[in-house]
Amino acid sequence: MAHEPFAAAPYIVGKGGPGVEAPQIPAEESLCPVVSHHWVNSEYKHLVVDGSPKALAVTPGQFFNLLCPSPDAGELWLRRPQSVYRIDRDCGRIEFLYKCVGRGTQGLATLERGDMLNMVGPLGVGFSIDSAWRNIIVLGRGVGLATLAPISQLAGERGIGVTAILSARSPEFVMANDLFAKVGKVIGVLDSDGTSTVENVEAILRDLIAQRKADAFFTCGSNRLFQLMKRLGKERGIPGQIAMEQVMACGLGPCYVCVRTFEVNGKKELRRVCIEGPVFDMQEAVGW
Ligand SMILES: Cc1cc2nc3c(=O)[nH]c(=O)nc-3n(C[C@H](O)[C@H](O)[C@H](O)COP(=O)(O)OP(=O)(O)OC[C@H]3O[C@@H](n4cnc5c(N)ncnc54)[C@H](O)[C@@H]3O)c2cc1C
Ligand code: FES
Repeated sequence: MAHEPFAAAPYIVGKGGPGVEAPQIPAEESLCPVVSHHWVNSEYKHLVVDGSPKALAVTPGQFFNLLCPSPDAGELWLRRPQSVYRIDRDCGRIEFLYKCVGRGTQGLATLERGDMLNMVGPLGVGFSIDSAWRNIIVLGRGVGLATLAPISQLAGERGIGVTAILSARSPEFVMANDLFAKVGKVIGVLDSDGTSTVENVEAILRDLIAQRKADAFFTCGSNRLFQLMKRLGKERGIPGQIAMEQVMACGLGPCYVCVRTFEVNGKKELRRVCIEGPVFDMQEAVGW
C-alpha cells in the first residue's frame, strides 16, 4: 500500500506545488522569489517577495515564520516570525519591514533579488474590524509600525477614518508614514524632541476621543503605550486590540514556547501567542 508522505514539499511560487491540492489547509510552506530588498534606514530593511496563492490570503496582523539563511559559518536554528507589512494582491506580492537585531535577521538581510525565501504561513489570528466603526486610532512604535500598517490599509479601504500616532526615537525611524498618510492622518511623536512621552501621547489621545475619532484602539510595539491605551480604553469604554511579540519556536501551537499570561474576568489565563494570537483583546492582555 502506498504511504501518504508525512510532510509535504513546499509550494514553489511560479511552479506550483502541493498547496494547490490541499486548499482546506490555510497555511503552507512556500518558496518565494525575492523581488526587492533594501535598507530604509540604518536598522530596518524592506523585503518584497512574490507570494503563493495561500500566502496572499494573509490578513492584517497575521505573520509568517521565515527560514532565514545563516549569516556566518554556524547553524541557524528555528525560523523567525515576521508580520506582514503590506499585501499587494494585484501584483501577487507580500512585503515585510523588519529590524536587523540578531543572527536570524542579519541572515535574512543577505537575501538578494532572485533568491528564494522559505516562508511558513500565513499564521495566527489577525486584527478584526467592526463595520459599525467610523474612526480608529492606531498607535505604534518601532517594529510595531510594520504590524499596524496593513490594518490601517484595510480600514482605509472600508471607508473608516484612521489616525496613526507613530512613535520613534528620531525622524529617521518614523517609518511607513507615507503608507499611513494614504489612508488617514499621521501624528509623529519623537524621543528626540520630547513629544513621545506618555503624558503627551495621552493628551493627543484624549483630544482625539473628544473629537469622536476613537471608535477603536490598535497598538503594537511599546509596553508603555499599550498600558496607556488599555487604561484610556477601560476608562472610556473603547474596544482595543494589541498585536503581541513573543519569542517563538514552532509558530504552530505544539511547543508552548510563546505562552504569555492574560487576565480574563479577574482570572489569570495562559495563551499561546502564535496560535491564539498574536492579536488579542487589549483589556485581556497584560504588559511585559
Ligand atoms: C508575531 C510576530 C511578528 C513580528 N513581526 C515583526 C516585524 O514585522 N518586524 C520586525 O522587525 N520584527 C518582528 N518581530 C520580531 C522578530 O521576530 C524578531 O526581531 C526576530 O525573531 C529576531 O531574530 P534574530 O535572530 O535576528 O535575533 P535574536 O538574536 O534571536 O534576538 C535578538 C533580540 O530580539 C529578540 N527577539 C527574538 N525573537 C523575538 C521575537 N519572536 N519577538 C520579539 N523579539 C524577539 C530577542 O529577545 C533579542 O533581544 C515579530 C515577532 C513576532 C512574534
Ligand atoms: S511557538 Fe510553539 S506553541 Fe507558539
